[in-house]
Amino acid sequence: MSDIVGVLERELGSDAIVGPGHERIEDYGRDESPLPEYYPPACAVLCESTAQIAAVLRICLERKVPVTPRGAGSGMCGGALAVEGGIVLSTERMKKIIEISPDDLVAVVEPGVVTGVLQEAVEAQGMFYPPDPASLEYCSIGGNAATNAGGPRAFKYGVTREYILGLEVVLMGGEVLRCGRRTAKGVTGYDLVAGFVGTEGTFGVTSELVVKLLPKPPAAATLLGVFANVALAGTAISAILRDGLRPRVLEIADKMSIDVIRAKSRYRFPADAGAIVLLEVDGDPDGMAMAMERIGMRFDELGALDVLAATEPAERRAVWEARRLISASLKENYRVKVNEDICVPRGRIVEMLARIDRVSADTGIPCAVFGHAGDGNLHCNLLGHDDPADPAVQQRMWAAARMVFAHTIELGGTLSGEHGIGLTKRDFMPMEQSERLMEWQRKWKSMWDPSGLLNPGKVFPARQRCVE
Ligand code: MLT
Ligand code: ZN
Repeated sequence: MSDIVGVLERELGSDAIVGPGHERIEDYGRDESPLPEYYPPACAVLCESTAQIAAVLRICLERKVPVTPRGAGSGMCGGALAVEGGIVLSTERMKKIIEISPDDLVAVVEPGVVTGVLQEAVEAQGMFYPPDPASLEYCSIGGNAATNAGGPRAFKYGVTREYILGLEVVLMGGEVLRCGRRTAKGVTGYDLVAGFVGTEGTFGVTSELVVKLLPKPPAAATLLGVFANVALAGTAISAILRDGLRPRVLEIADKMSIDVIRAKSRYRFPADAGAIVLLEVDGDPDGMAMAMERIGMRFDELGALDVLAATEPAERRAVWEARRLISASLKENYRVKVNEDICVPRGRIVEMLARIDRVSADTGIPCAVFGHAGDGNLHCNLLGHDDPADPAVQQRMWAAARMVFAHTIELGGTLSGEHGIGLTKRDFMPMEQSERLMEWQRKWKSMWDPSGLLNPGKVFPARQRCVE
């Protein structure tokens, strides 16, 4: 492995290599996960084309060097960290929107295109790309496909997988595979696209994507229900679900989450907010007005302290900017932040909120809860002011996370609704999946990557390190 940096430099040119001593090398040893450790790669290779990705994967297979693919590094579970050494392969320079087709309602893009940039480009032409992870201003579409990212609008429109029609993927060794389609329907052969999406860069490296677009909804409006506490807000969410109302977004944020964004938010959240339900409707203006009225009345019946409508674009932007700041603001306010994205069946949302509260009370670890409650997908952030590098602190936080996971699974839920498993949650996999089920998935991975060199150490527990 010692000469891999030199070999890659000769093949791709020194401009493509971030090697030891480079001022940016540290960036490639971290991501947005709560891990205190730093995983420096031998180098990061910034590929600019499918041919370059293929060359890197050929060279690394020949020399038995592990490769960790990386999009924008916005992942929250350590999926892009070179935990077993080797190199990081970044697609951040592949930012071309190759085509936007209003006739076919598709866009063809390189993996490094920032999600928000794609959204703006298609909206300028009257179309709509719904998946909206909170990091949309800097995350990339390749990373979104790798984790099958969600976001608030998943409530009505679904997650990334539902918008990826076709993929070009480079396999370990350099073979380039094109799968999927650009048609609205298509059932020819097995659905390899669905199979690749969400595999966290362990099957292949995405080099091009065909994404599905929708016509842009004519209008949208935002509604905020202010409640005295998170339990009441959760009850309101369940009531809306039972009423059969389908806003495009149905989010929750508790008091701790609101309090960290208050100071920096252009939107003025009510001072007495113990929790909010944040909701958005879209469609034709008449239908929207009716839906807003019904939801507003329901909130009133359920004891909302206030119901606020934001219909003007600037005001709506301010609300959403604030919402997207919650995660980063919690990180600024607390030295330790273990953020999870558990998902429970919709009927168990209220119960899950109560159980998270109980874990927090029992462990004495403050916990901020926000997120996509309408999907049952709750971001449960265990917080602290201690030194994150202290192993005892990490141990305590992850023991509490384990309690949250246990409740989640007991209620029929899943460890991750949208962030993925990566490194941080791999040892918890046996809590949800049987050894047999994981074995089948390992076999599937080894079909695409028999060498095991592509993003090693992710998704499944290292066998000797299972958490029972
Ligand atoms: C969000 O919805 O804000 C993110 O998925 C969660 C996070 O950043 O912790
Ligand atoms: Zn989220």
